[in-house]
Amino acid sequence: MDKRNIIIAIDGYSSCGKSTVAKALANKLNYIYIDSGAMYRALTLYLIEHHISANDIEKIKSHLSDIEIKFDLKDDKTIVLLNGKDVTSKIREMNVSELVSEVSSIKEVRKAMVVQQQKMAENQNIVMDGRDIGTVVFPNAQVKIFMMADPKVRADRRFKELQLAGKNVTLEEVFENLAHRDYQDTTRKESPLTRSEEAIVLDNTNLNQEQQLDFVINEVKKVLSPK
Ligand code: DC
Repeated sequence: MDKRNIIIAIDGYSSCGKSTVAKALANKLNYIYIDSGAMYRALTLYLIEHHISANDIEKIKSHLSDIEIKFDLKDDKTIVLLNGKDVTSKIREMNVSELVSEVSSIKEVRKAMVVQQQKMAENQNIVMDGRDIGTVVFPNAQVKIFMMADPKVRADRRFKELQLAGKNVTLEEVFENLAHRDYQDTTRKESPLTRSEEAIVLDNTNLNQEQQLDFVINEVKKVLSPK
């Protein structure tokens, strides 16, 4: 086996459980987990808080170097820091969800995020989830997984999560938001969500978390320690 650090790329549609699988896998392998979607969300929150329109590309560009997104551990949980402030909960709110696909379709935004993502993986084994991890950020990742699930099942899961977090939102709103994000993520000009040919498909519509983890562990074993 080569001496490069190991990169496991997990891409797929919104709310199909990528982060749950990615986190569990990283935990099991003792790798670092990086949620690239959280970075686009944090950047979107920054724009909202600074009253910068997603259409104002010049202004966004001029702010990119002021935006620092980091991950840290607090009470054993990963938190997202935007310029040092914990925004873990705020970036999941609907105002961010409604704008994040638009923001993440901006070429300059993607360039800046990809550079940060590649830096985060220097010299460490990582599991990163997102939309373009196996295609653009790490085209040479040793393991690539592409996740999908029935849209209704995804909306239902996300709705339950938001309810548990005390967010005031209807199932219809969640479904609409997901459909809109799927459309934007797959049709945008810059790094659209696509499955790279080598990626292994995981459709988890009818799988529980344990079954999903077993599936990916098995795929990782096949690639990293072939018989
Ligand atoms: O994974 P998520 O739903 O939290 O991601 C939020 C948004 O960020 C999603 O609508 C698409 C975008 N995204 C992206 O364009 N590229 C990534 N690598 C990760 C997320």
